[in-house]
Amino acid sequence: MAVRAPGSSMLRLASRLRPPAPSPRSCVPCHGYRIQSRRTLQSASAPPIPEFAFAFDIDGVLVRSSDPLPRAHQALAYLQSQRIPFILLTNGGGKHESERVDDLTRKLEVPIDTSMFVQSHTPFADMDEYKDKTVMVVGGVEDRCRLVAEKYGFKSVVTPGDILTAYPEVWPFSQQLLSYYKTFSRPLPAPIDSSSPPSSLKIDAIFVYNDPRDWGLDTQIILDVLLSEQGILGTYSGKNGQASLPNKGFQQDGQPPLYFSNPDLLWAAKYNLPRLGQGGFREALEGVWAALTGGEKNGVELKKIVMGKPHRPTYEFAEKRLMAHRKHIIGQYDGPLGNLKRVYMVGDNTESDILGANSYVSGEGVDWASVLVETGVHVRGTAPNHPPRKIVKDVWDAVAWAVTQEGWKV
Ligand code: G3P
Ligand code: MG
Repeated sequence: MAVRAPGSSMLRLASRLRPPAPSPRSCVPCHGYRIQSRRTLQSASAPPIPEFAFAFDIDGVLVRSSDPLPRAHQALAYLQSQRIPFILLTNGGGKHESERVDDLTRKLEVPIDTSMFVQSHTPFADMDEYKDKTVMVVGGVEDRCRLVAEKYGFKSVVTPGDILTAYPEVWPFSQQLLSYYKTFSRPLPAPIDSSSPPSSLKIDAIFVYNDPRDWGLDTQIILDVLLSEQGILGTYSGKNGQASLPNKGFQQDGQPPLYFSNPDLLWAAKYNLPRLGQGGFREALEGVWAALTGGEKNGVELKKIVMGKPHRPTYEFAEKRLMAHRKHIIGQYDGPLGNLKRVYMVGDNTESDILGANSYVSGEGVDWASVLVETGVHVRGTAPNHPPRKIVKDVWDAVAWAVTQEGWKV
């Protein structure tokens, strides 16, 4: 990871922030707060080992769309100066982790690397079982998510834009966007030929990587795959609607799995009110699916795997990444690493950040404490659906409150 060489202000900050070894009473001024050495050192050579760490949400906590939020730099720079481990844990995505951490390092003026970063589709990188198959990647700007999937090792990646460019009649209502899609679409690995299914394009898995930009096209193409035989485009499964079959025969004919990376209905973007996210697209898709299949009242569900916060697999993944990162940054100092006892999950969205931390039972016995900020989706003064351990104004107040809980002084 190319960490941007810290500018003069970063160097000055870093040199000022590094707490003098081992005099617990020394104070170093920075950004208006004082860093006092903290707990008595276990041994003269080893700085205090924090038994706690942080997981920071990004949108609505550290940035609003691309603008860093006030005191975000201060909060992260302080933690780095105190060697208190943290990761960034976002339901966002759309670019490779290496690109996003470069962006964030630049915006937040704090060195961030991929060992301390988890985004919504990061766990897709581990899905080796699909890397030699043909997968459909949906969402994001142009075909950036295809490029991410290829960087993860997926060898045959198709997008709805590729299908529209090859067969414009597949979705009549994006014709005006054809010239746009032609700038980044690619030829299909196989034709769509309903007269010869064995040689027709077959999709083995569908991954929604990021917020779709063309809900109409993406909905039509995903439905075509889910209603097909075996994921073969241009076909329609004869099992669909068969009452004698489970789920009334829908998704009972070897259709591919459907993965969503992010459940967020709403997220905090630049606009003053929260905007619809990937979860909004999924709800719309589920609505059309229900209209087509009869839906739940007809005993039909849309079988799917939804990842991202608040879901457990994402917290398990994040905890592993945080423990490895903690070992990396603390391991270089002598003295016992000790156990990680508590993670402060700082978020702006009660449905993802707070619910996720509140309901996560760590296999390592780590206590995940949720802290809700008022700089994003959550509106100050409203009652949160899922009560956090603490509500604070912004990310700096979250850090100050948490380290004080741990007996450290800011
Ligand atoms: O698309 C991103 C959005 O859903 C939320 O991102 O960083 O707040 O988890 P984040
Ligand atoms: Mg957020």
